[in-house]
This record gives sequence, structure tokens and C-alpha cells, in this order.
Amino acid sequence: MTSTLSPAVSSAVSAASSAVPDAAHGPFFAPRRLGHVNLWVDDLGRSEAFYRDVCGLNIEFWEPDLQATFLGTGHTPHDLGMMKTTGGVDRYGRNGLLQLPGTIGLAPGLNHLAWELENEAELVDAWRRLKVAGVPLDLTVDHQVAHSVYVFDPDRNYNEFYCDTVKDWRTVLNGEMELLTSVWDPAAQAPSAQGLYDDAPVLRHVEGAAVHPRRITHAVLVTAQFDAMLDFYTCIGGLRVVHREPGAAWLGANHAGYPYNLVLVEGDMAGYHHASFELADEASLDAALDALRERGIAPLRIVDMPGKRAFFLTDPDGQCSEWYVRREGFASVPRGAADAPWLV
Ligand SMILES: [Fe+2]
Repeated sequence: MTSTLSPAVSSAVSAASSAVPDAAHGPFFAPRRLGHVNLWVDDLGRSEAFYRDVCGLNIEFWEPDLQATFLGTGHTPHDLGMMKTTGGVDRYGRNGLLQLPGTIGLAPGLNHLAWELENEAELVDAWRRLKVAGVPLDLTVDHQVAHSVYVFDPDRNYNEFYCDTVKDWRTVLNGEMELLTSVWDPAAQAPSAQGLYDDAPVLRHVEGAAVHPRRITHAVLVTAQFDAMLDFYTCIGGLRVVHREPGAAWLGANHAGYPYNLVLVEGDMAGYHHASFELADEASLDAALDALRERGIAPLRIVDMPGKRAFFLTDPDGQCSEWYVRREGFASVPRGAADAPWLV
């Protein structure tokens, strides 16, 4: 199996299928679901307008000093985060935390995928075992409503594994916020074993938007090192393969309400392809297509197949997103097919 992981991680990866996690063996994290996707954008105002007025994601809060905006459906504090590209200039959080180094975020695209965990105890346990296994970790931070551990995958896609630390997050996050994020030491105190995600969320409907999504459900990554990426997301990421085709794998987390939360597609153009937002039903999808037509917005692509019905939109930076209704089964994708990322 081709792998770019270090020997220590490869050892952990090869043990991933063993039954019980211990200090050096995976799986490490055990996510409930994909909580949000965070994108770099060139113009916050322009992207806010697109994702709110066209796509129907509600603006929950802003962090002006970080040049960041957070939008969503209400299931989590945000389905979609957006940060202005850095232009090579460092950006700081609270207490001097170098939150966004100027070496990253130089162009629009994926900032990170964020995985919601059951509770802090599971997050800290995974963090401890990853350190024992010698897996390189990036920041550990306190977002005031969540604690997070950040890790790069083998393709250098950035992943946040987090637990909520406040159940009623709208009591903290609302409108224009001071800087939120500071350093978090996972070993500083005994972690909470309480699940603080909101399991009865107040959902948002953006009046007048063309599209009315229910929730973000998954992301699609293209990779030229499929086996190493699959190892990472199953062993480190703790996702399980729910369906497999020769050039694609559908990976699920623990929340039974989401059939899968990530699709890996084999291909030469490695990187983030799109995030997918679920609509309530096909009537809602038809209404969205009508509303887009009335506004003169042509979807990038429309897909109608046994597994799903979907349309794709390009945002002001050219980033792609999917708005879909799931049907039965999975796509059968010819290995190497150029259009595979649209069909999975
Ligand atoms: Fe995030």
C-alpha cells in the first residue's frame, strides 16, 4: 500500500482495523458528522451575499478582526465558515495566538473541514494517543464554543476535530464578535464527557433566497494518493467506509442521520472539489432551479441519476458547491472518469 505517512503513523494505520483503540493504535478520532466547511475567499462581502441571498445560508456571526464570516442552517454554529485570503499577512486571534499565518490562505479554496466529536473527553483522548503515536498535530485552540485539534491529511487538506463546549451556542455567538480564538491546552484540566452539540437546534430559513438547504452533509476530495488518504480518514479521522467503488470511497461518521460525510475520489487534480448541502425534497430542488433561472443564474452542472438529483453552483471565487436530494444507492463511477467528483 502506497503511503506518505511516517513509520509511526503507518504502524498506527496498519493497526487501525484492530478491535480496541489504545495509546498507539487507531482509530483515533470518532466524529459524529461533518460539522462545517471553511473556505478562503477573496471578498467577504461578495461571498456573504452569494451564500446568504442565493444559497440560503443564514449569517450567524462575524469576526471582523479575523476577517471571517460564519453562516449556516442552525444544526451547528455554522455549516460554512469563510475567511478572507491572507495576502501573505499574519492574522492573530486572542492573546497573541498566530491563528492564520500569512503562509496559508493565499488563494480562494478550502481552509478546513471540521469534524464534530461526541464530547471533549473523546477529543482529548484522541489527542493524547496521537501524540504517543507521533502523529504531527497542528494547533489546539479554544473557540469559546468549541475546543479543536487541527491536523493535515496526506494531501495537506486541513482538518479540524472539535467538540462543542457550550450547548446554547447562540448565547455566545451572535452578530459582530470580538476575536474568539485562543490557545487551548488539552491537558490543562479534566475534560468533560458531556455531549454539548445541540440535538434540538433552532433552524434558519433565509427569506427570499433562491435555495433553501436543510444542512451540510458531506465534502468531496480528489486525491492522487487514494490509499494514503483512505488510511488517514479511516485511521486518524475515524470514519468508516460505507461504500466502495474502484476509484471512490464513501466514508461515514457516527451520526445515524447522515449516510456519509466524505467522499474520496481518485484523480490527478488533488484537492477539495466541493461541499454538499441537502435540500428537503425534489419539490424544493425544482423551486430552487426556478428561482435561480429567474435571477439569471445558470447552475454549473445539473445531475439527475438514480442515487441523487443535484445542481452545482460556482461562488464568486469560482469555488463549487452542490445542492442535492438523495435518492437510493450510490453512483457507479468509472475509475478515472473526469466527471466522477460530480457524480459521487
Ligand atoms: Fe472551523
